[in-house]
Amino acid sequence: MKDKSRNRVLWTPPEETVRTARVKDYEKLRKRANADPPAFWEERAGELAWYRKWEKVLDDSEAPFFKWFTGARTNVVLNALDRHQKTVVRNRLAFIWEGENGDLRTLSYFALNREVCRFANVLKSMGVVKGDRVTIYMPRVLELPIAMLACAKIGAIHSVVFGGFSVEALHGRIEDSDSKVLITADGGYIRGKVVPLKEIADQALERAACIEHVIVIRRTCEDVNMEAGRDYYYDELLALPIAKGSCPTVEMDAEDPLFLLYTSGTTGTPKAILHTHGGYQVGVSTTLEFAFDLRPEDRWFCTADPGWITGHSYVVYGPLILGATSVIYEGAPTYPYPDRWWRICEEYGVTVLYTTPTAVRGLMRFGEAWPNRHDLSGLRILGTVGEPINPEAWQWYHRVIGRGECPVIDTWWQTETGSFMITPVPSFPLKPGSATRPFPGISAEVLDEKGNRVAPGEEGNLVITTPWPSMTRGIYKDPDRYVEQYWSTYKGKYLTGDSARVDEDGYFWIIGRKDDVIKVSGYRLGTAEIESALVSHPSVSEAAAITLPHEIKGNAIHVFVILRSGVQGSPELEAELIEHVGKEIGKIARPEGVEFVDGLPKTRSGKIMRRVLKARAQGLPEGDTSTLED
Ligand code: WT7
Repeated sequence: MKDKSRNRVLWTPPEETVRTARVKDYEKLRKRANADPPAFWEERAGELAWYRKWEKVLDDSEAPFFKWFTGARTNVVLNALDRHQKTVVRNRLAFIWEGENGDLRTLSYFALNREVCRFANVLKSMGVVKGDRVTIYMPRVLELPIAMLACAKIGAIHSVVFGGFSVEALHGRIEDSDSKVLITADGGYIRGKVVPLKEIADQALERAACIEHVIVIRRTCEDVNMEAGRDYYYDELLALPIAKGSCPTVEMDAEDPLFLLYTSGTTGTPKAILHTHGGYQVGVSTTLEFAFDLRPEDRWFCTADPGWITGHSYVVYGPLILGATSVIYEGAPTYPYPDRWWRICEEYGVTVLYTTPTAVRGLMRFGEAWPNRHDLSGLRILGTVGEPINPEAWQWYHRVIGRGECPVIDTWWQTETGSFMITPVPSFPLKPGSATRPFPGISAEVLDEKGNRVAPGEEGNLVITTPWPSMTRGIYKDPDRYVEQYWSTYKGKYLTGDSARVDEDGYFWIIGRKDDVIKVSGYRLGTAEIESALVSHPSVSEAAAITLPHEIKGNAIHVFVILRSGVQGSPELEAELIEHVGKEIGKIARPEGVEFVDGLPKTRSGKIMRRVLKARAQGLPEGDTSTLED
């Protein structure tokens, strides 16, 4: 359905913003960049440091396995830390960190570099060498970015597993990546409670033989089990002479792997998305600089956990490459009161705030009085990511947090894209709910099933039609799945999995996932993961997961369960199944509701028709059911 009123430009940047913006004429820049994307990206790469420059900007000879800056030698740490040591950036703050319990820690670029060197030396002493995988399972403390950078520095490949994931999820990711070392903490704080990370890690390690050593950061200082010869406290390692404050950065090929990050796909278990040193650093730094207009005087607060791609690209690598000052907060935004973020913004002078629509909706619920207690006049730009932002939340964010003056930069992108793909810049007119236009150098289209562009306002599949430097280099150890999932629907075009429409002005409106990936509170989950978690419970014979609209989460998970014969559905069993999913995947995946059913609507080929379940649950027409089994 077309809704014309939603298409209006509702915010035009003030003249002053346009005059002082990093990008003054977005359309003009896009035109120039898109006339020759490799030339544009080459120009951007020229802003960074390289040990050796590239022979070729883009090598498409093995498409869709594109290579960027081939022949170049670099390391993301060369740009994030090393080059800053020779300039005034050395004395600037890299991170301002606040613990949930009020702890405060700041690190200058000089101090951060020292910490990273020391951590890198510790890793080396444990036998970690270039190409080895290291799993990081940590609370949101500064040792998390430090550990990531330490891995990158010595050429090891980090795989960060979000600290909210369960034993099963952690175990699967450690095994799949075949990691040699695990970096974790005794525990972490969230909502005033301790998350027993080491205990979870111990259980995961019972079945993961690949891990040789475990480095344990002390955060809560509670007693945890330490296995002699395997587990070491980080502070004790730091006291050893090996942990000295200098360590050479390993020269990497531009195409050498930097990290793996697991994300949910259409089928099966989460897949490891691979990113590399060269193209990734060009993509994250350019997009952050242009879209958020970051300047040396800014203080950037990206609320994402470093365990997700947003944290990788825009808490760790992007801001550091730009020499920016980032604020990191360990805990929940509502702890102890729902003004925690607003107090942080005031206290540390945050100028640019980047968060999720679900967080905005969640905080909006507590009313304006909480933000109004704080001086938020330092904010100049706001941003969102993860899912479409509904107009009510947009308005509240813009008016109450942004004084009706700050633009809301709605950035559309994915774990696989590495950096922003569709986003406005502060000098560009906004339509609330639209991520506006593709970034310079990026070409996006909305296609019908046959591969033709749909008419303005019509819904279709969102694709990216040309390669870009920060694109994933594929799924670790599974090249076929990469080709099959992203590059086989339309020849030569990257399938995003999202449906979208483009309006008459060329603005993109993301509708949502078209495949069996779901978004809950901005988190990405696969229906297949949730279903297999349910089926692993002894009472369950079959399961189907869908989402239903939810006021704060955007979407909430609902599951339909067929029980094994002889088992009766009950409120107790419902609660048990919800817990079970939480245990198998993590709290974020816990269903909101469980419905016990006798059968599931399936196609004749046996595929569950989730669309029909969803329509039924909402009392809506079921649509075309001609392929339904019965
Ligand atoms: C999916 C990717 C952390 C980076 C983003 C999350 C949805 C992302 C937007 C947005 C509408 C969005 C899409 C996409 N999405 N940003 N601004 N507007 N939808 O990365 O976990 O890999 O999820 O998030 O559906 O495909 P991710």
